[in-house]
Amino acid sequence: MPSSLKWKRILLKIGGEALAGKEGSGIFFPRLSWISEEIRKVKEMGVSIGIMVGGGNIWRGEKAAQEGIDRATGDYMGMLATIINALALQDVLEKRGIITRVQTSIEMKEIAEPYIRRRALRHLEKGRIVIFAGGTGNPYFTTDTAAALRALEIGAQVILKATKVEGIYSADPLKDKEAIKFDRIGYGEFLRRRLKVMDSTAVSLCMDNKLPIVVFSLDKPDSIKKIVLGEKVGTIVED
Ligand code: GTP
Repeated sequence: MPSSLKWKRILLKIGGEALAGKEGSGIFFPRLSWISEEIRKVKEMGVSIGIMVGGGNIWRGEKAAQEGIDRATGDYMGMLATIINALALQDVLEKRGIITRVQTSIEMKEIAEPYIRRRALRHLEKGRIVIFAGGTGNPYFTTDTAAALRALEIGAQVILKATKVEGIYSADPLKDKEAIKFDRIGYGEFLRRRLKVMDSTAVSLCMDNKLPIVVFSLDKPDSIKKIVLGEKVGTIVED
């Protein structure tokens, strides 16, 4: 393992939208291949990797209210969506020779292993990538919060949150041209500004446990690689 690694164990959070094509929904396999390639490069550097996948490309919990569905039911539908994404990601990674295990927070033994922390740690020690699916297994929690929780449980040193934009901005850069990008922001300021890029439950959990979060875009090649080598990419949320 190169001693120059800044982070040796990471939790990569990939939102469902990152798996979709231009239309923003469904699974776009060329995109999945691109992401897998980015992951492979980092894996080969000896980085221990856990992945939390979202499900927004298939179903979003917030859509439930618009459709007249209970929030909790909508959230369970979202959890199932993350499992579909996890299986797709597992397949694409394994086709590249990267060994993975999917663990679900909601038991679904015929499809994947249930989440067992000590087992996840063992897989990581053996150099396997563990893909966490099903969020926390509870409604009212996002997959960002699930990412923070699992990151803490597996002893990850950082959460890398892949988004559509290159970091955290003072306003939505897709809507506001004046928006400025932060290189670094404190947890407190992030929460005070009510920034939408990550929910406050997730950020609070990271703040209380001093777990840094790097928000970045997966669109540029070698982004994850640069981050684990300590280069300034995206925005870091820390104390
Ligand atoms: P080690 O014991 O560390 O070697 O881990 P392992 O995951 O290789 O061993 P195990 O024999 O537990 O698993 C072999 C395969 O079965 C792996 O692909 C697991 O993901 C899969 N597997 C293990 N438990 C379950 C389960 O409860 N459900 C499903 N669907 N697959 C499982």
